Amino acid sequence: MGQEEAPLYEAVKEYVKRDMVPFHMPGHSQGKGAPRVLKQLFGAKFFDFDLTEVSGLDYLHYAHGVIRKAEDLATELYGTRSTFFLVNGTTAGIHAMILSTLKKGEKIIIGRNSHRSVIGGIIESGGVPVFVQPEFNEEFGIITNLTPDSLAKSIKENPDAKAVLITSPNYYGFQGRVKEMIDLAHKHNLFVLIDEAHGAHFPFNTKFPKSAIRYGADLVAQSAHKTLPTLTQTSFLHVVSDKVNIDRVEQVLGLIESSSPSYIFMIAMDIARREMALHGEELWDKVINISNYAREEISKIPGFKVTSSAIINGNDINAFDPIKITINVQELGYSGFEFESYLNDCNIEIELSDLQNVLLFVTLGTRVKDVDELISVLKKVPAKKHKSSVKLPKFPVASRFLMSPKEAFDSEYETIDLLESVGRVSWGIVAPYPPGIPVFVPGMEISKESVWFVDEVFKKGGLVQGSINKGHSIMVRVVKR
Ligand SMILES: Cc1ncc(COP(=O)(O)O)c(C=O)c1O
Repeated sequence: MGQEEAPLYEAVKEYVKRDMVPFHMPGHSQGKGAPRVLKQLFGAKFFDFDLTEVSGLDYLHYAHGVIRKAEDLATELYGTRSTFFLVNGTTAGIHAMILSTLKKGEKIIIGRNSHRSVIGGIIESGGVPVFVQPEFNEEFGIITNLTPDSLAKSIKENPDAKAVLITSPNYYGFQGRVKEMIDLAHKHNLFVLIDEAHGAHFPFNTKFPKSAIRYGADLVAQSAHKTLPTLTQTSFLHVVSDKVNIDRVEQVLGLIESSSPSYIFMIAMDIARREMALHGEELWDKVINISNYAREEISKIPGFKVTSSAIINGNDINAFDPIKITINVQELGYSGFEFESYLNDCNIEIELSDLQNVLLFVTLGTRVKDVDELISVLKKVPAKKHKSSVKLPKFPVASRFLMSPKEAFDSEYETIDLLESVGRVSWGIVAPYPPGIPVFVPGMEISKESVWFVDEVFKKGGLVQGSINKGHSIMVRVVKR
């Protein structure tokens, strides 16, 4: 079997051709019972292919047939020991990495820049997180990466830790010194788990940073859907090293993912893998050229500052993903939020905004004419008379854990005013956006700095996920005394 094949797609296509009489899930019976509006919206073919695990089409959680063949081709392409298709995003991959390597009461070293799914996996495992503070880029106001030095210090202070989970690259495409950190953690016999949600495309063009797969991490989770031409929710979990117990990984995936995986999702992964294998290098060359063109043109417009490989400093930023464009809009007097809504009014949608920037993803679907449209809008942006001088306050360091995240989550809670929560134990995850990183974590003592940070983001117009918005103030959930 070669990379030019798409075994799962072919098998489902053959099955559909047989036109079987369906007495099984899903409830629309290959579209025959689907509401007319849905059929018009998605087309009959969509429903033909929206099958469940019928005869001959294998089982995601006991993959021995066509799903395994499709996963084997992904395994070969990514150069891993075994690659699993995920139908519930990298969130499931991160939960699986943690549950496969960490037991109740064991310590895991994680960056303070970890996504909420990392906290979710730790709650499920009953493990105990040890936080390491990442670096901060002052010029753009962006949290970057851990450094080998900060990781080494944490490993020294926690010789009983079992695993380390590193998030890299960050949302903005800044990759840290992943290789050194992996080697360092391995020297101390730790499992190394990498949240590479934003790097599924890395292996397919030499101009991208190298994937942590190549640097020898034990497990790597990637959101295929974030950058590859596949559907939302589709991701990969890569088992890379021999140290990982694959049986346990399989069992865990069977516990946490749906037992009715979407064949539409899995076919999309099969076909996206084939596309990358056959045409990845040339397709990404085009994307990188368009992105570089956009970057050059935007940086010529007065008032805008744009990220480029010049941001690499060999410390917390060791490589830069060229398809990410961060535009700092402060000089023109806008906050990132204000600028996002300005762009929306001009019919332009972006990936995200923060206090100082807007972030654009250039994708396989971006055309030169899209970039030209963006540039013509940017050229006409009026400077503001009253400049907003908002800056993200320093991201608070983690405070101590008074109970494990699971113990806290299993406790009774009460809802109190944010400003009265100092000294209490957080019950929930509170993640102000930006930067979308959990500041309050279940079990963690709530510090003055973290309350101030959350309040600042809220007052500056950010969204505080996990809080209760009362208009002028917010409430948070804490463990009941
Ligand atoms: C760094 C990081 N990790 C994990 C995730 C979760 O990925 P998914 O949306 O595929 O579940 C995200 C999503 O935004 C992310 O940015």
